[in-house]
Amino acid sequence: MMLPYGRQSIDQSDVESVVAALTSDWLTTGPRVADFEADIAAVAGAPAVTVTNGTAALHTAYAAAGVRAGDQVVTTPMTFVATASTAMMLGAEVIFADVEDDTANIDPAAVESLVTERTRAIGAVDYAGHPAEYDALRKIAERVGAVVVGDAAHAIGSTYHGRPVGTLADLTTFSFFPTKNLTTAEGGAVASTRPDLLERARTFRNIGMVRDPGRLRHPDQGGWFYEVQGFGLNYRLPDVLCALGSSQLRRLAAFKARRQQLTARYDELLADVPGLRLPIQREGVDPMRHLYPVRVLGGRRHEVYDRLREAGILVQVNYIPVYWHPLFEDLGYQRGMCPVAERFYAEELSLPLFYDLTDAGQDRVVEAVRAILGS
Ligand SMILES: Cc1ncc(COP(=O)(O)O)c(C=O)c1O
Repeated sequence: MMLPYGRQSIDQSDVESVVAALTSDWLTTGPRVADFEADIAAVAGAPAVTVTNGTAALHTAYAAAGVRAGDQVVTTPMTFVATASTAMMLGAEVIFADVEDDTANIDPAAVESLVTERTRAIGAVDYAGHPAEYDALRKIAERVGAVVVGDAAHAIGSTYHGRPVGTLADLTTFSFFPTKNLTTAEGGAVASTRPDLLERARTFRNIGMVRDPGRLRHPDQGGWFYEVQGFGLNYRLPDVLCALGSSQLRRLAAFKARRQQLTARYDELLADVPGLRLPIQREGVDPMRHLYPVRVLGGRRHEVYDRLREAGILVQVNYIPVYWHPLFEDLGYQRGMCPVAERFYAEELSLPLFYDLTDAGQDRVVEAVRAILGS
């Protein structure tokens, strides 16, 4: 039996929620969108707008932040490409700051050395569900007049010094892809404690359409009237998927508890394996672990990857440093730029971690790792 590195958990309550939406009057732009947005806000600690996926959430967040040609966005290379590429699609120049060796999150000291008066946004990622150092990042952002965008695709359900992830950055993005902490199949959201930024995000995800009479340039035209005052896209998440999201959020506490249990079991069962470095948790952080990223030392990551895959354990590597992709290479970004991130990439393997992973399944992973690394 194959064991993936991550997968969804769908139960009868999820199925019933989706069926109820499918047989209602609204397949999209109906009441379940607002309901899911309120449910996200309750967990994230800030109002949210839903979008079609985590990539769209990043695009929307950068657009809401006003990112445009001539701006710089400082971000991490230890992430999925969308954290950087969506800012570039708005015309920004992306600058990569190296990561911290223990969390693989963007290093505030590296950010400090790279920001300029052209920096419009600092893009952090809560790698594997462990929040980045937002207090330090916000101080830097305030000094140069930038906003902090938190890519919390891995981290819904996490807290940092008692504060939920949606309150840590100016704009926070989520992904609800099936491997994530909860799923809507495809889906995402943008949360913000700043009403102005959230309103811009809401308008962007709806093709830039403005209906509020107070915001119209030409009011009193009639009830049908709306204006497009800026670019936007159709990034609306349908009611059918929002219904799944609300149902999944009702299960989030159970999802978190199981992920914590599995993390604690890996920590214990793998502690004495030679040549393996386990993920850490910083003081004051309560992560909802999306990934369990180990580091395979001694240049053996490739071998361990191949042998676990042969054994049906579908480990993953998160992530190829973003600027290694030809898109960036062709723009002149060079390997070696962020050595801590590159070393992390050379050693990293994500072991299976998902709600329905059984203790027996996890024991199989542990035994296979032990057999390869000889302990
Ligand atoms: C850190 C990070 N950012 C952004 C994304 C993009 O999310 P999506 O796949 O929902 O577009 C993902 C997920 O793939 C991710 O892991």
